[in-house]
Formats: sequence, structure tokens, C-alpha cells
Amino acid sequence: MTITIVGSGRVGASVALNCGLRELDDILLLDVIEGLPQGEAMDINHQLSELGIDCKVKGSNSYEDMDNSEFVVLVAGLGRKPGMTRMDLLNKNASIVKDVATKIATHANNAILVVVTNPLDPMTYLALQTTRFDKNRVIGMGGMLDLSRFKSFIHDATDCSRASIQAMVISEHGENMLPLLRFSSISGIPLNEFLSKGQSEKIFEKTKKVAAEVIALKGATVYAPGNAVATMIESIKKNKKEVIPVSAYLEGEYGISDLCIGVPVVLGSNGIEKIIELNLNEFERKIFDLGVTSVREAINLYNQK
Ligand code: NAI
Repeated sequence: MTITIVGSGRVGASVALNCGLRELDDILLLDVIEGLPQGEAMDINHQLSELGIDCKVKGSNSYEDMDNSEFVVLVAGLGRKPGMTRMDLLNKNASIVKDVATKIATHANNAILVVVTNPLDPMTYLALQTTRFDKNRVIGMGGMLDLSRFKSFIHDATDCSRASIQAMVISEHGENMLPLLRFSSISGIPLNEFLSKGQSEKIFEKTKKVAAEVIALKGATVYAPGNAVATMIESIKKNKKEVIPVSAYLEGEYGISDLCIGVPVVLGSNGIEKIIELNLNEFERKIFDLGVTSVREAINLYNQK
């Protein structure tokens, strides 16, 4: 079996490297640019070779090569430039995602599909619509990355070990992201035992804005997204049942239907095995609903075309 990554740019290559380092499986990198996936594959193989890891990485420009993939990661498309929001990518990336998802449905009809292309929640929905895969098999990566950033700020503010931090980020992977201070802890001890209200508010805002800061400084976010995708694939492949926030298709959960948005789920060998419904307070619910409205508007926009 193979993990296929469609889109061998900065994030696609990082996904490949992270999956290889975890020895998850053989990897196929695909791209429309001739030579790019082949070059990335060679470079990653050379690193894995030195580490004694036997996963084989291959690069290709042909979708036929993805036949029988167990996982497909859809990370093809444009990234944000400094000053852009994720939603600014909607039109261009919707046509790429539709095209790629059609090919995935043809060549890897039994795969579990992890969507990464932004704007993440509308693109996850579009990939689900286009492939017609079961909803448990189309999973958007956004919250897992937001979570890495949230945890990093909690670590900075408390100086407690990163390994002791549990946290949760839900809602839209975008302007209405919702870091859940109330559902986060250090080894089960609520965050408000460690942080003042002012510190918590700062962390909340910084988590929402830090991706734009990285993009302004280096042009893209690369390593943390690659790791986040590999964590999700590992949980599914090893049936670990980790609780991870992902963009999932809702059918009544949180009172929302026919939409993909970030919620905590259990990830096991069937993909999304359970959606966990949190009892949100008024403040949290307001942001979650803003996220729902934003994602719904984006879906309506491209559906009208
Ligand atoms: P990049 O520009 O480095 O790579 C994108 C690659 O997609 C290019 O190599 C391009 O040739 C390829 N591509 C375009 N159309 C294709 C097609 N039809 N078939 C196959 N390949 C195709 O961009 P980067 O930085 O890797 O970002 C990729 C996407 O991931 C962007 O939309 C970005 O916003 C998103 N992203 C999402 C994150 C998340 O948390 N969900 C985190 C980071 C990036």
C-alpha cells in the first residue's frame, strides 16, 4: 500500500518526509510540474537511506501511479501570500481541488483522503462532494496544526514541558478559529491555574494570527503542517484512536448539517470513527457559528459557479 501526496510543493514534500521518518509506508509524490516530485523523492530517499528507513519514496507526474493507494493527501494548490487570508484562495484552489478529487475518485477509490489545500473547510467539503467517498474517509487537516501553535504558546507562557500540555482548537481553519482555553490543560490541571486572564487572551489571539506571521517572514508554513498530516495518518494506520481536531462533515452534530468544519474526532482505522460534541459556552458558540457562516458562504460561492 502507498501514501500518495498530490502536490509536491513545500507542504507536500514536508508531509512525505514526516511520513517517511515515522516509517508509515511507501510514499508517492505527484505534481503537475515535471521533475519536482522526482527531485523531492530523491532528496527524501537519501535522508531515509542514511537513517536506515526502508520506506520507498517515488515521484511521478502520472495519476495512474496512485492506483490502490491506502491514503491520499490532497495538498495541491496555491498558498497564501503575505497579507492574504485563506479565503482569498477560494476560486483558484476550488478548481484545482475539483480536478484532483475527480482523479482521486478514479484511481484511488478506496483511499482515505486527507485534505490540506486552503481554504481548508470549504475544500474538504468540495473534495467530499466530488469524490462521493463516505464521510468518515474525507478528513481535513487544519485544527491539528492550529493545536500545535496553541500548545507552543502555552509552553512559552508557562514553561511547563510541551509533553504535559493538552489542548483543543476547533471551528474554521481561518479567521474564526477557536482555541478552547476551557478544554485545555497541563496534565489535567486547568490552564487558569497557570495563566492570568490577560495571558490567556493573548495566547488566544496569537494562535489565530501566527500563521500569517510565519508567511510574512518565510513565505509559507511547512514543517508543522507536514507533521500534523503525518500524525493523523499514523493514528488511522495504527488504529490509535487519538482524539484530534479535524475538518469533518457534520450531519446534525453541533446542530449543523451539510458542512465541513473543525471538531474533535476519534481517528482510527476507519478514519473518522466518532465526532465528539463539546458543550460550548455562549462566547465559544458565537465564534463557532461565525466559522460555520464563513464556511457556508464560501461553499455557496463556488456552488453558484
Ligand atoms: P506550493 O506552491 O509550494 O505547492 C503546491 C503544489 O501544488 C505545486 O508544486 C503545484 O505545482 C501543485 N499543483 C497545482 N495544481 C496541481 C494539480 N492539479 N495536480 C497536482 N499538483 C498540482 O504550496 P504549499 O505551500 O505546499 O501549500 C499548498 C496548499 O496547502 C496551499 O493551498 C496552502 O494554503 C495549503 N496549506 C494548508 C495548511 C493547513 O493547515 N490546512 C497549512 C499549510 C498550507
